[in-house]
Amino acid sequence: MFETTAPEILEASVLTEAFRLRFPSLLPGLILERGHPSSRKNAQPRQFRMRRGNRMDFQKVLAWLRHEAIQNAGPRRLARWIGRNWAHVTYAVHVEPTWLEVNHLDIPVADLPEAHDGYRIVQLSDFHAGKHVTKKYLDEAVDLAHLQKPDVLVLTGDFIHKGQQHVKEVAHCLGRLTAPHGVYAVLGNHDYSVRNALGYRRHKYLHQQIADALTEQGIRVLHNESLPLERAGEHIFLSGVADLWSRVCDPDKALAGLCPQTPRIVLAHNPCTIERLGSLRCDLMLSGHTHGGQVRLPGIGPVALGPKGRRYAAGLYRLGNSHLYVNKGVGFGLRLRYGVRPEVAVLTLRKHHG
Ligand SMILES: [Fe+2]
Repeated sequence: MFETTAPEILEASVLTEAFRLRFPSLLPGLILERGHPSSRKNAQPRQFRMRRGNRMDFQKVLAWLRHEAIQNAGPRRLARWIGRNWAHVTYAVHVEPTWLEVNHLDIPVADLPEAHDGYRIVQLSDFHAGKHVTKKYLDEAVDLAHLQKPDVLVLTGDFIHKGQQHVKEVAHCLGRLTAPHGVYAVLGNHDYSVRNALGYRRHKYLHQQIADALTEQGIRVLHNESLPLERAGEHIFLSGVADLWSRVCDPDKALAGLCPQTPRIVLAHNPCTIERLGSLRCDLMLSGHTHGGQVRLPGIGPVALGPKGRRYAAGLYRLGNSHLYVNKGVGFGLRLRYGVRPEVAVLTLRKHHG
């Protein structure tokens, strides 16, 4: 007696039928060993006991099935379909979520001072530090951002995915970021532990904890406020607003008192914030939040985003005199990205002669 494990695709009933049709001499032995299929209550479907004399017959069965698979188009197509889709899923889970890309964009800005023509803003967003977004991967994003030689670095929220566990870790990691004109941040809905527009906070003081940890590392967190970015005696403004769902988002306060002729860049985690600006001037808003939907299927688009999210899913948008750039983010909630690689965005301001 010996035991052998059959391939998973060979179900007991299929084998029995195959034996019945092609190898009748094997059938009595099989039924004796495993019982008839209809009476088998405690059967182990993937294991077969066979008599040594039947071993040759079993090999013949495998050879016959292999022959059928080659001759018959149906099983071949099924095998190809499984293989192809398994490869897509493997790629979406293991490759794309941490396959960073660098996107360069030129942004025309009216009234831009000569000194700021060619000014490079490097944006990182949505880190979602946690169990699956590791320190090693965040370090990679930081190094890639440095390679772009930024004049200023901006971080547009969602530093952690949930809870307080990874606050110190992500702050320490991002603390390595440096730029001649500084590193600035706004907080996202995950930092406020808010998961929807109702604004209910699970952890009331989490945002303060994150802001303190970032400040300790030399990152300036902007909370409904603005400051000048000076170069050769001229300046533009950089403003930052609190997350739209936090209930403390106040663009009027952030942009109050700024010279209307001076360009301003606004940092806001949620891209829909641009609709709250009304008549306030905003030359460029930098956002994140959507992660580009994380899964974008050909012909369908970002499957996980609702109509509101799809309005500003990812990339550059033009609204009146404003530009909006929606960053696809570095991290992820669920480790799954398909057609939406994580990114480091490099936005170069260009003087607009219009
Ligand atoms: Fe996010």
